[in-house]
Amino acid sequence: MSVPNTAKLKEQFDVGLQTRADFTIDQPMDRYGGVDHAVWKQLYTRQTSLLEGRVCDAFLLGVKRLNLSPENVPAFDDINTQLMPATGWRIVAVPGLVPDQVFFEHLANRRFPVTWWMRRPDQLDYLQEPDCFHDLFGHVPLLFDPVFADYMHAYGRAALAAHAANALPLLARLYWYTVEFGLIRDDASPNGVKIYGAGIVSSKDETLYSQQSDAPNRIAFDLARVMQTQYRIDTFQKTYFVIDDFAQLFDLARTDFAPLLAMLADAAPIPAGDIRAGDRVIMRGSGEGWATDGDI
Ligand SMILES: [Fe+2]
Repeated sequence: MSVPNTAKLKEQFDVGLQTRADFTIDQPMDRYGGVDHAVWKQLYTRQTSLLEGRVCDAFLLGVKRLNLSPENVPAFDDINTQLMPATGWRIVAVPGLVPDQVFFEHLANRRFPVTWWMRRPDQLDYLQEPDCFHDLFGHVPLLFDPVFADYMHAYGRAALAAHAANALPLLARLYWYTVEFGLIRDDASPNGVKIYGAGIVSSKDETLYSQQSDAPNRIAFDLARVMQTQYRIDTFQKTYFVIDDFAQLFDLARTDFAPLLAMLADAAPIPAGDIRAGDRVIMRGSGEGWATDGDI
């Protein structure tokens, strides 16, 4: 999710990129060097082979339609040539994380902000901020899926309304547990789930952990439950929420959030690893390796 004015963002401003009021820039193709392309190739090759059989079919279809070269960091204009006719979405280059309201306004207008810079070779396995590989490889394939694309659009509008109502944490958790760390039911797969969240598909270790580890909880998706649940930004998730299909997300994003936001306004957050009465538990996690503090 978006946090304003991170060090990385300031660093990019400082090197003189021309940044517009909506925080977009022209993708600076001339700033990619051999190391950037090599990191892209390594991550792209590793994840596409790892994800086969683990990620949902819609994601693989999106990767196929993107038809990216493994050799070079992609040109965003080329991607838009494929994406815009498919679902009306396009990607825009940004220097890094952007303020919440700016981010949601982009989503509400079917624009997905993609960080232009690539992580360093010593950051292949973990990076706290999103980079180009996370934003592009993680998020863009599902924007080719019409139902998921409509969910992202509806989410942007709902988040803008929540922002205005000072209820953003509730919507931030929804984004986290769906767009970033969502699992989807697939009875033929290990533990009955496949992955679709961008934070998982762009990470080698969380791809394996989220689907196959005995440690995390896997709970059937419930909107109010998800909106109250804290999460982890520094470790694997303690709990993953499992949707039946993308239509489930789209249906809920069209609902009127206002009564739910009002109802949950004073509700105490649920710790990330808790299981509550009423949860439809698909698999209760062993809790092995969980940090005892640090839920946010
Ligand atoms: Fe992301």
